[in-house]
Order: sequence, then structure tokens, then C-alpha cells
Amino acid sequence: MSYQNPRIAKTADLLKKRLEEGADKAAILRSAELRALFDELKTLPATERNAFGQEVNQLRTELQQLIDRGRDEAEALPPIDITAPFDVNVPAAKRPGLLPSAQGSRHPLMTELETILDIFYRMGFTAVESREIDDDFHMFGSLNFPEGHPARDEYDTFLTVQKDKQGKPYVAPAHTSIMQNRILREGAADLKKGRAIAAVIPGRVFRNEDLDARHEHTFYQLEGIYVDKGINTGNLLATFKTFLSEYFHQDIDVRSQPFYFPFTEPSFELSLSCPFCRKRGCAVCSQTGWIELLGMGMIHPNVLSQGGVDPAEYTGFAWGCGIDRLVMMKYGIEDVRHFESGKLDFLGQFS
Ligand code: DAH
Repeated sequence: MSYQNPRIAKTADLLKKRLEEGADKAAILRSAELRALFDELKTLPATERNAFGQEVNQLRTELQQLIDRGRDEAEALPPIDITAPFDVNVPAAKRPGLLPSAQGSRHPLMTELETILDIFYRMGFTAVESREIDDDFHMFGSLNFPEGHPARDEYDTFLTVQKDKQGKPYVAPAHTSIMQNRILREGAADLKKGRAIAAVIPGRVFRNEDLDARHEHTFYQLEGIYVDKGINTGNLLATFKTFLSEYFHQDIDVRSQPFYFPFTEPSFELSLSCPFCRKRGCAVCSQTGWIELLGMGMIHPNVLSQGGVDPAEYTGFAWGCGIDRLVMMKYGIEDVRHFESGKLDFLGQFS
């Protein structure tokens, strides 16, 4: 837009240039130069006032429009591309900083779990994740712990105030065996088609423990289930010996001792030959050459029938292994509480 009056034209050029240079927009409309033109208007003879007044108003409108357009354009700007390359000559201290998390590492339990699962995948097992809240039926009822059974006390865990349909509190699972009934129900149809049930179930479990170097309120377990026709304890021991030998990269011997679990019959506690001294006796195995590792057994007929599997036709084995314990043994970690501690000097050793 051009202006006839030379003073108005000059002020227009000046203020527009200031706008382009990024001056404060409100200040442009209130500027002394613009105000001077309005002041001059009042002093002019009536013959000139009309034309001058029109041009000054025009100038104010033009400035207002330029300001509005600038605002619309700024709002329509694309977001900044944070991945755009930056000048490598910028001194290090002035470059955009990396977030501290970029220096983090995977948790050793999760890295080891992947290795463990990979071994079981190669043995034909599938993996199903466990859950972190469950009901009384899956924690006890489905596993042959009748109401009031003393073995329930062994699994002292955390309960919710909220109740399920049976009026029982929900539980933070104390073992991954809560998944057995679900796996059996899902696999029952496959069994009839001649396909075995073969699943491993990793999960986080919770217990109301007195904490020390060997006991933690939160830890990880790996449950295993195998069901088919004619399965026996020999299959169970062979499966575990194969797994342990793969995991520790050496030939491991296993030894079973009778134990009691309501959900298996017979039940065992399995020990492995000490991977540090190879049975010669050392501090890790208290000079015995053996380390007690986990509970296992042949799945109790009541547990099979609760899961819709006929115990007269099928048999199977199950185990529940502490993952923390296994990883401690592999790396010589002396305190289970390190895993949940969030200590970076501990975690950083596994990156
Ligand atoms: N659930 C048991 C525990 O946490 C471990 C266990 C023992 C699991 C024997 C099993 C089993 O599946 O057969 O103490």
C-alpha cells in the first residue's frame, strides 16, 4: 500500500521495517511515530484533515493486518524437527544434552529370562506370561489346597481390601502356579488331538517375607507344565538336566529329594551339582557339592481334573523355579535384594 503524504509514507516504511525485524507488536501500534501522526491530524486546517485522517487510519489498519497475519503464520509453523542434524562445530558443552536414561542398561533378570526362554523354546515349550493379581481359586482352590489347609500358610502374600464374587479378597500371587489351571483348560482340547501341553510361565511373585540376603518380597519365578500320555518323573528330571546344562554351559547333574506340595504327587525338591566347584565342595555349595534349587513333581490328579484333563488318560509334570536364584548363581550375586534396589552401580555391571 502506498501513501500520498510523505510523512505518512515515511512512518509506514519505518514501522513496517521494525515489524519485519521482530519488534514487539503491541509496541508498534502504540509507537510514538504513529501517535505523532494522530496528534498532527488535530492541528491541520479542515481542508487537509480529511485526506490526512484517511491515510493515517489506513496505515493503522495495514499495520494491524500485518501483525495478525504474522501471528497466524507462527501458529501454522511445522513442529521443530528434533532429529535434524546440528552443527558439529558447536562446543560440546553447548550441544543439546542426552537424557540420562540413554546411559541405562537392561535389567539382568530380563536379559537372563530371554536366555532361559530361548532354551525352553528350543525344547518345544511355548511361553505364557503370568499375572500380578489373581483370585483365591487360582491361588489355592484349583491347586488342591482345600479351605483351611495348613499348607496355605506357606504362601503368605498380600491381599486386597476389595472382594471377588465369592466374597474372597484378591491376591498378589505368591507363585506362578496360579496359571496351571488356565494352561490345562486351554490345552485340554489339544491333548485330544494328540498334541502335548508344553508351556513355561514367567512371572513376578510376591511374599510377605522377613527380608534378608536370600529373601525378597518381590521376585520372579518360571513355572513349567508338561502333560501328555505316559509322562513320568524320568521325563521331568531329563528336561531339567538338559535345561540346566544349557544354561550353565557345562554338564550339570541333578538330584531329587522327596518333598511336599499339595499340587504334585509325588513332589520333589531338585538340587543341581555345584557349577562353581563341580561337586568338589566350595563356599557357594557349603562344601556339599550340591545346591537346592526348586520344587517340582507329577501334577496331582485333582489338579488335572480341575483343569478339564482326565487323570486316567494323561499324566504330566510341573515345576516352579526362582529366576532370581538362578541368576544369582550364574553371576555370583550375593544378595537377592540388589535386583529390586534400583542401584545403578549394581545394574550397570550387566550392560
Ligand atoms: N509353587 C511352588 C512354590 O512357589 C513351586 C512349585 C513346586 C511349582 C512344585 C510347581 C511344582 O509347579 O510342581 O513354592
